[in-house]
Amino acid sequence: MLAIYVIFLFTNCYLIFGKDVYSFNVTDIEGNNVPLEKYKGKVSLIVNVASKCGYTDKQYKGLVWLQKEFEIYNLFNVLAFPCNQFWEQEPETNANIFKYVKATYKVNFPMFAKIDVISRGWEKVDPLWLYIGEVTNSPPTWNFWKYLVDKNGQIVSQWGQNTDVKEIYPIIKSLINEMNSSDDTKKRTNLKTDL
Ligand SMILES: *[C@@H]1O[C@H](CO)[C@@H](O)[C@H](O)[C@H]1NC(C)=O
Ligand SMILES: *[C@@H]1O[C@H](CO)[C@@H](O)[C@H](O)[C@H]1NC(C)=O
Repeated sequence: MLAIYVIFLFTNCYLIFGKDVYSFNVTDIEGNNVPLEKYKGKVSLIVNVASKCGYTDKQYKGLVWLQKEFEIYNLFNVLAFPCNQFWEQEPETNANIFKYVKATYKVNFPMFAKIDVISRGWEKVDPLWLYIGEVTNSPPTWNFWKYLVDKNGQIVSQWGQNTDVKEIYPIIKSLINEMNSSDDTKKRTNLKTDL
């Protein structure tokens, strides 16, 4: 019994140890490899999205608004991952999903390839989402789960599909403000001015 527990613990530690969100590589919606390391030093909101959900319209509009609100800071990104696992509400191909959300919502944030975010036994979960489920102990149970990631790649908060994006705004704003007053941001700002 103890041995089984130790193995379980070890497996979990192996999954989590030394990792953070920005240590994963993912595939964007056009099929390109994207090391999430490029988002290190910024705040991210990772969301599992779907095009044919009752929450689609409100959530997408909110996410686009959020990205726009924080645009000037250049310190924030919504990272959206289409997923068909909840009542098959994301059935289309990556190309069609991308076409649809560009035309309907004018998405202004990175979209990634359709993946599985949870395993019910037969699915192969995307490694990033396996990690998210493990560290939060709270994988998505529906579309539009939102995980807030700090500049170091640590997940600091999460919300389900019922939470309006506007409710999250002040929390993200305070995270960004904190960063704006820190030294590394000043360094980056200087760098940007130099270019
Ligand atoms: C992630 O992508 C980078 C750049 O293509 C590559 O050098 C690296 O080996 C990849 N890492 C993993 C874990 O696949
Ligand atoms: C960042 O902080 C500085 C003061 O340290 C402030 O002047 C500036 O407006 C802030 N930038 C943004 C985008 O809020």
